[in-house]
Amino acid sequence: MNLSVNFCGINFPNPTVVASGYLGVTGASLANCIKHGSGGVTGKTLFMDERPGHPNPTILTFPGGIINAVGLSGEGIKNAKHEFDKYRELAPENPVIGSVAGKNIDELVEVARIMEEYPVDMLELNFSCPNVDDEMGRPIACDPQMTANATRAVRKVVKKPISVKVSPNVPNIGLIAQQAEAEGADAITAVNTMGPGMLIDIKMRRPTLSNKVGGVSGQALKPIAIRCVYDIYKAVKIPIIATGGIINGRDAIEMLMAGGSLLGIGSAIVAHDLKCFDMITDKIREFMQEEGFSDISELVGLAHKS
Ligand SMILES: Cc1cc2nc3c(=O)[nH]c(=O)nc-3n(C[C@H](O)[C@H](O)[C@H](O)COP(=O)(O)O)c2cc1C
Repeated sequence: MNLSVNFCGINFPNPTVVASGYLGVTGASLANCIKHGSGGVTGKTLFMDERPGHPNPTILTFPGGIINAVGLSGEGIKNAKHEFDKYRELAPENPVIGSVAGKNIDELVEVARIMEEYPVDMLELNFSCPNVDDEMGRPIACDPQMTANATRAVRKVVKKPISVKVSPNVPNIGLIAQQAEAEGADAITAVNTMGPGMLIDIKMRRPTLSNKVGGVSGQALKPIAIRCVYDIYKAVKIPIIATGGIINGRDAIEMLMAGGSLLGIGSAIVAHDLKCFDMITDKIREFMQEEGFSDISELVGLAHKS
């Protein structure tokens, strides 16, 4: 039974990859996910400079999932190199994806250029965080032309594989993915959080998040994320890191059948802690055995064939 995935020429021993922003600030915490069964990991998104992010409260849970407005806090690309070195030392065999963003396209290109020099296997371009105020006014992935321009600019300077992370908050996600593919993206990560959404503190009589609004993830996002992956699979030939509301093995199998080759794991960590990786791969293996599949690639896009 083969659960390993060759993704853009990189070998993942199983399809689970920690999603950006989850346990991704230090190399040691990412390597700990590998120790617990994750196939690969994605680092927290980095900009050029250190960013404080939004004040607390920034992360809330509700019965359907999570709402967050962390605001992409981080130490800045130049201060983060030692975390990737540490990861490589602790987890030399498992792929790591470096996530990058910029206040504008020039900054994005510069951050990507620096990230390429780090010991990462591929880059993820975060074009889709819904709750940061950057100079572009809205996430790049909300506009086909901006997506094309930004992908082209990074492609010019980066040789390692790049995955463009897209937003569910668009009416035309297939078109956005096509723009990224046409400008040289090797993969699509789908999706980032949806919204923005809001929760109200009824005693304080005001929005609970300090930023008032935040991106919604988890179970509430799952059916939207599956539809996005399905639409993208139809629209492009490049592979997809399917992310959004995967809590258990069944969700993971649905995402594979929608068209994901790798599975971005976030919510499942919140729901089950680090045992979620083995839980998900065990369930996929069991399903494959019961249904007579021998290679995980046979599941990818299966929902399109019936
Ligand atoms: C607290 C938090 C922080 C996040 N930070 C990032 C980030 O830095 N970069 C990014 O591309 N996505 C970030 N995300 C989005 C996740 O990577 C993922 O795309 C999204 O949450 C959907 O997956 P999930 O439902 O499994 O959480 C963050 C999500 C959460 C909940």
